[in-house]
Amino acid sequence: MSLNIRKECCLTPYHSFRLPGTALALVEVQSAEEMAEAWSLEAYASSPKLVLGSGSNTVFVERFEGLVIVNRIKGREVIDEGADWLVELGAGEDWHEAVMWSLSLGISGLENLSLIPGTAGAAPVQNIGAYGMELSDVCAYVDILDLEQGQLRRLSQEECRFGYRDSIFKGELKGRVVIVGVGLRLAKAWSPQLNYGPLRDLSDTCAHAIAERVMRVRREKLPDPSVLGNAGSFFKNPVVPNAVGKDLQSRHPNMPAYPAGEGQMKLAAGWLIEQSGMKGAKHHGVGVHQDQALVLVNHGEGTAEQLLALATQVVKRVSERFGVVLEPEVRLLNRLGEQCWSHYAD
Ligand code: EPU
Repeated sequence: MSLNIRKECCLTPYHSFRLPGTALALVEVQSAEEMAEAWSLEAYASSPKLVLGSGSNTVFVERFEGLVIVNRIKGREVIDEGADWLVELGAGEDWHEAVMWSLSLGISGLENLSLIPGTAGAAPVQNIGAYGMELSDVCAYVDILDLEQGQLRRLSQEECRFGYRDSIFKGELKGRVVIVGVGLRLAKAWSPQLNYGPLRDLSDTCAHAIAERVMRVRREKLPDPSVLGNAGSFFKNPVVPNAVGKDLQSRHPNMPAYPAGEGQMKLAAGWLIEQSGMKGAKHHGVGVHQDQALVLVNHGEGTAEQLLALATQVVKRVSERFGVVLEPEVRLLNRLGEQCWSHYAD
């Protein structure tokens, strides 16, 4: 089947912030073969290319002067490996639907990651995490299409070099591979992860009850992107040296902080933003969410320009008050591809 390439395509429905924007061209692919075909299209040989899942962590800052390839590679499978279940997901599967599907099969282990927006293929890129768990805790492997060799390869968990909201796909392999599938290893001898505050008082600790609680907490704190455009946490929680964190704690005894290994502490960006007086702030069509300051939202009429101005203001205010520099967690895209934040911040 030949690929359906749409020229001058509106990007608003392709990302959860739903800001206005267009791309030179867009194509949706259903298989790894179509992905390889789209990537090597003669007509776009010299154009920038961008692979998108459901666009739940992406902000188009400018018109994109290239080909957007939407990853719609589907497929869900469960393999019985004796002590474990191996759950294989096509990269274009919706993450939350896959979590619900695995629970409906009686497979536990993904419940803490319920309701995270995005696709399975995007999950390893930023090592999605919530409520005391990260994808890396269960990720067995990631299947990739090597764009230089044109070949499929499997990366082990170790090869993915997962970190806090980080992986090899954000570093060395950025722009060189496309994720086409993910394998998750879930132990049959499951035990609940209840360390995160709102899960501690659960009386029923079966996986379904945990998923229900996680969904309730998320719905209470985080805006539904289908109602209010957003990309989840806009900023990362900053990791600072212990000395910096302890000094801040001595001046702000209520400040949340968590050990982050190797003499470092992770601070709560949402708290820092709230204390800087920015929670609920509005700037034209965009704003800082009133219930979770880490989330920036599109009130409906927002533009990328306004969002960048607001994000810059948030960074400035937090830096002035606490001397801590926030960095976006979202992916910012300019006309040619991903743009690092320092370009806007300077
Ligand atoms: N806080 C405030 N004010 C706010 C928001 C938070 O004071 O407006 C405080 C909270 O009271 C708490 C601390 O900051 O003491 C941490 O807040 P929370 O537990 O809500 O989590 P978070 O650090 O703000 C992270 C993830 C979320 C994930 C939650 C729950 C990052 C960047 N964000 O947020 O992930 O859902 O933990 O585990 O790590 C996402 O990545 O898009 C995302 C939503």
